[in-house]
Amino acid sequence: MSEPRDFQRRTHTCGALRTSDVDSSVVLNGWVESIRDQGGIRFLDLRDRYGITQVVLDPKGLEKDVLDKLRNEFVLGISGVVRARPAELHNKKLATGEIEVEATDVQVLNRCEVPPFEIAASKKEPGEDIRLKHRYLDLRRSRVQRAFLFRSRVTQIMRSFLDEDDFLDIETPFLTRSTPEGARDFLVPSRVHPGHFFALPQSPQLFKQLFMVSGFDKYYQIVRCMRDEDLRADRQPEFTQLDMEMSFVHETDVQDVIDRLLVRLFKELLDHDVELPLPRMPYAEAMAKYGSDRPDTRFDLFITDVSEAAKKTDFQVFQNAVEAGGAVRGLRLEGAAGQFSRKDIDACEKVVKEYGAKGLAWVKLEDGGAKGSVAKFLGDAGLAALKDAFGAGDGDLAGDGDLAGDGDLLLMVADTEKVAAISLGELRLHCGRKLDLIDDSKFNLLWVTDFPLLEYSEEDGRYYACHHPFTSPVFEDIQYLESDPGRVRARAYDVILNGIELGGGSIRIHDRDVQEKVFRAIDMSDQEAGGKFGFLLEALQYGAPPHGGIALGLDRLVMLLLGAPSIRDVIPFPKTARGNCMMTEAPSTVAEAQLAELSLRTEIPEDDS
Ligand code: AMO
Ligand code: AMP
Repeated sequence: MSEPRDFQRRTHTCGALRTSDVDSSVVLNGWVESIRDQGGIRFLDLRDRYGITQVVLDPKGLEKDVLDKLRNEFVLGISGVVRARPAELHNKKLATGEIEVEATDVQVLNRCEVPPFEIAASKKEPGEDIRLKHRYLDLRRSRVQRAFLFRSRVTQIMRSFLDEDDFLDIETPFLTRSTPEGARDFLVPSRVHPGHFFALPQSPQLFKQLFMVSGFDKYYQIVRCMRDEDLRADRQPEFTQLDMEMSFVHETDVQDVIDRLLVRLFKELLDHDVELPLPRMPYAEAMAKYGSDRPDTRFDLFITDVSEAAKKTDFQVFQNAVEAGGAVRGLRLEGAAGQFSRKDIDACEKVVKEYGAKGLAWVKLEDGGAKGSVAKFLGDAGLAALKDAFGAGDGDLAGDGDLAGDGDLLLMVADTEKVAAISLGELRLHCGRKLDLIDDSKFNLLWVTDFPLLEYSEEDGRYYACHHPFTSPVFEDIQYLESDPGRVRARAYDVILNGIELGGGSIRIHDRDVQEKVFRAIDMSDQEAGGKFGFLLEALQYGAPPHGGIALGLDRLVMLLLGAPSIRDVIPFPKTARGNCMMTEAPSTVAEAQLAELSLRTEIPEDDS
């Protein structure tokens, strides 16, 4: 057995054998999950991606020195005969639990150093850094591997669904020009054209639109996109989209394809029935009630606008905010005053401040009066008005029409409408988690619609496209593109799952004049537009059909379907939160010669080197 020889190829996988195979001679290949010695006879669990099979090693018929050297994670070829296990020794946890293989030959196909963490199923979870550094070993662990078997099924269902619906799978280039999707580009220097750069695509947006001009009619691609943006638990610098585009469609046609695809995915993967039609919520309502354009609708805690009531208080901060055109908004946590200590309220204040609020006004209603950071500034009329505003509106969680009263906690932010909305939206999620209001077993899908086309940046003194600049304005609003860009509505839509943006899309501009107007509205000169997007403007003149599309974030979808805490759990080789790869140590410096060839020189600030 120690002589070099070719290996015995498996006749079965480690998940395949059943009682119907008893007495067959078989060969298994796999990794040692564990070895147990029971009075001289050893029991070895052999693992591959299909399962685990118990192998019996009787030293009588086998070479003892080989058996003694076996360790966990060695790669073996086991020849043997399938035996039925006595009923009392059946292992119900294994699909192969009613049989075992009595080994007649053990071949070591490869050894394994002691791994940096345990690979066999164990309760102890190794730290993420060490897992990512040895990701190929982490991916050998069954519980980690399961996510990728699942992910493969997701894409397979997508492909067969879209194939049945006449979609064509067509590729788009990776070395291209920058497409604005709102993030920074990753650049690739050109050797042949010194000083010139390709950009890695943030999405195939322009190419898929050009496919429609070409007449492909229905396109899809499961495609990698690259965006240089700050990372979060649901974001990676390279991620995968299910990207789609269709000709001669309205919003509802695109949404209908996604609806049916989601129904199929949830049914086949989780046996969960998604009910159609999905709820639809206008952007303005999402921002007002949930403080977010991706509302988590799994719990009914709503933001209330109390600006009118706030004017009646004596609190200067409230008055100033409303006078300046802003708003006072808040959350009423019904009956929850007792559950919030000073420390808890400080934590709430930290949340809103992180999102731009200057402070958090809080009031606990007690004995018909109020206590808290702004209680003494409210005045009787002000307090009554606030109670009324919080009680009558959406703040009435119990829906019993009562006014806010004793035991309630009111949390308020006075600021611009946007800061008040967004900071309270985050606080809403924070309180929802703290009060355990979120039902994790729910899958709440909805469409958010009626987005504005453009958003004004105070900082830069100009408008930006909310989605991307190829999104069509609503017809009736095209007339306002020059005079009042902020009021132009977009033909855009996002699909949201449990407070996470699963996908976004729109009906596109297919008319050159309108496209030029939108470029101008975002402060792009005709010259700049021609330089960057001349090919698109030209294409729009050659019979571009009305068209629209959408892209779903595949990683996010898989993460949500699996209930995984991070997008990194469903990407085989993800980047860390710091944007690097623990295993290959990318990004790395390169040789001077390589830089010279690309006509590049680097200048690194001292504290970054
Ligand atoms: P959008 O920019 O909304 O639209 O992206 C579509 C979806 O891709 C996912 N996504 C991400 N997932 C992980 N990490 C990231 N950094 C990341 N960024 C985006 C989200 C998002 O909803 N071209 C348009 C689509 C279109 O108009 O057809 C686009 O890319 O789930
Ligand atoms: P001050 O008078 O500055 O001590 O503030 C009294 C309380 O009002 C504190 O709890 C502050 O956090 C809160 N506060 C200050 N500014 C705002 C604001 N813009 N919106 C809501 N609360 C605020």
